[in-house]
Amino acid sequence: HLMSMSDVTAAELTTLVRNAAKHKTAVKAAFDANQAPSGLIHSLTGKTIAMMFSKRSTRTRVSTEAAVTMMGGHPMFLGKDDIQLGVNESLLDTSKVISSMTSCMVARVGPHSDVAGLAEHSAVPVINALSDDFHPLQSIADFLTIHEVFADRASGSGLGLEGLKVAWIGDSNNVLFDLATACVKLGVNISVASPEGYGIPDRMRQIINNAAQGVASAGKLSETTSPEEAIKDADILVTDTWVSMGQEAETQRRLKAFAGYQITNDLAKRGGAKPGWKFMHCLPRHAEEVADEVFYSPRSLVFPEAENRLWAAVSALEAFVVNRGKIN
Ligand code: CP
Ligand code: NVA
Repeated sequence: HLMSMSDVTAAELTTLVRNAAKHKTAVKAAFDANQAPSGLIHSLTGKTIAMMFSKRSTRTRVSTEAAVTMMGGHPMFLGKDDIQLGVNESLLDTSKVISSMTSCMVARVGPHSDVAGLAEHSAVPVINALSDDFHPLQSIADFLTIHEVFADRASGSGLGLEGLKVAWIGDSNNVLFDLATACVKLGVNISVASPEGYGIPDRMRQIINNAAQGVASAGKLSETTSPEEAIKDADILVTDTWVSMGQEAETQRRLKAFAGYQITNDLAKRGGAKPGWKFMHCLPRHAEEVADEVFYSPRSLVFPEAENRLWAAVSALEAFVVNRGKIN
């Protein structure tokens, strides 16, 4: 199963990213030549991938459906009103039934225990398509994006990203927890600036710091309430929505608490980001967390990052479904 970035070693994450890059190049070349992507097209033939989504999605849904199609399988989208999950039927029963007829469950849920519960009782691999705690597919895509832009400049082995600095400015959420875990594994330092009361919960800090175990040159996590402090010498500035799905009732309180955390050119300058700094965001984006001058600028990697969700999905499906968890 792929529940979070804690499920993969540094070497496995490196392989997932490298495979994503390899498939991106090969499939684009095949499509440009008006050919089918030969290495992938039969890998999921005859297989159905159940996509159980209890929350809205653009990128995760489209990338997963497109990836499964590219691999010759059938993506079966099951929205929250389509199946009995959580309304009329327990997770245990749902998991047993759906996993008896399909080759994988890709699930987007609220509480992480929901996707963990599906995995516990499933006969097939389960991929977390976003829970309240983690977003592993996003982290794979994010590191593919970072690798594409920074691999040449950084020194070191693996993905060649050791020593880079990511500054996360905003809410401590699901996307951050997996991104930070991935950063630590890949030797990338990450500094997180969140307002008082919106920092990383102890349980998550422990998970992120545990990611350093067995990693020769692990990245370091640092935390502050000052966006400027986090931004100092950063190569990449990252944020996400201040109001994640399910937190809508807190919108007014959150907008107030996060005032001053909007990423702007001025903030990056005041904080002292590296001259060539880049901007990333998993999307969907709202103007309050990042100004247009950054979001639509040449510094912004957000659209390649979104496209890379497709190649991350291909790589994850290959590793967890085609190769049944053997990541090579
Ligand atoms: N980044 C991301 O997961 O987007 P969606 O919510 O649109 O899938
Ligand atoms: N943190 C956001 C991410 C959406 C992709 C949410 O959970 O809504």
